[in-house]
Amino acid sequence: MNSTETHPFHPHQNHTGADADAVAMAELLELDAEVLRAYLSELTGWLGELSDREPGRIVDLGSGTGTGTFALARRFTQARITALDLSPQMLHRLSKKASALGLSDRIRGVRTDLNEGWPQLETSDLVWAAASLHHMADPDRVLAGAFGNLRPGGLLAVTEMDFFPRFLPDDIGVGRPGMEARVHATLNPGPPVDWTEHLARAGFVREARRPFVIDLPAPLPAAAARYAQVCLRKLHAHLDGRLPADDLAALDAVLDGDGPHSVLRRDDLTVRTTRTTWAARRP
Ligand SMILES: C[S@@+](CC[C@H](N)C(=O)[O-])C[C@H]1O[C@@H](n2cnc3c(N)ncnc32)[C@H](O)[C@@H]1O
Repeated sequence: MNSTETHPFHPHQNHTGADADAVAMAELLELDAEVLRAYLSELTGWLGELSDREPGRIVDLGSGTGTGTFALARRFTQARITALDLSPQMLHRLSKKASALGLSDRIRGVRTDLNEGWPQLETSDLVWAAASLHHMADPDRVLAGAFGNLRPGGLLAVTEMDFFPRFLPDDIGVGRPGMEARVHATLNPGPPVDWTEHLARAGFVREARRPFVIDLPAPLPAAAARYAQVCLRKLHAHLDGRLPADDLAALDAVLDGDGPHSVLRRDDLTVRTTRTTWAARRP
């Protein structure tokens, strides 16, 4: 449960390629936010229904480039949001976007290593942690910090990806049917964490555990093709020669931007993934 695991959504903060990794990760997160905007709207709408009053102060834990921060700002139009992240590059992008959207008065980024504890913050109504808690060295400690930061009745939303998005049809036209499934099987990070007991240990009362099934049909806008390309490239980089050569050639064919089978030229791409949210309340 820390950032040294080899998985495509895990930025490697501590080695010499950290800057390049951060740029690639930031691009992926920004595309994720764009392509999955409807899902994010559904999720924040649901949190609004679960909240006992309109959230005025929100904390985004491990905000990245602000996928959650901006979705929350759109939903809760009076809220002030504090985005906490370890990465200055992520926070730089987040504050540039906040400024471009005229949201700088409502959104502030604070560089924080949550492994070192929580920063001093005002009490909040909603804490959001998407695809971030599993990066923490001691998630229980981070959850205890979230509990301490929330007012009684405040809500915590922990979201994790059940599996990395899939894009390709079984037959991609270059032979090797099922290639994408084999890529995922090769990189299998194991079952996602179930946060239920962690939340209870921190003192939260669970409100709900809700899977969101994302299944965007073809044809998709250009951002989805770019998202597929960035995600598949990231998978490619983690394969380390573990995929059969014919599958690797098929993957190269869909990643070749100019090639006839490129993800950028296909009209049969879909986006399939599932994300689960645990909503819990501080009693
Ligand atoms: C996969 S990204 C998710 C970003 C965002 N929540 C989203 O849903 O797009 C995980 C984020 O957690 C941040 N992170 C990892 N370890 C952290 C730590 N110890 N303290 C603060 N942030 C951390 C990373 O810098 C990265 O931006």
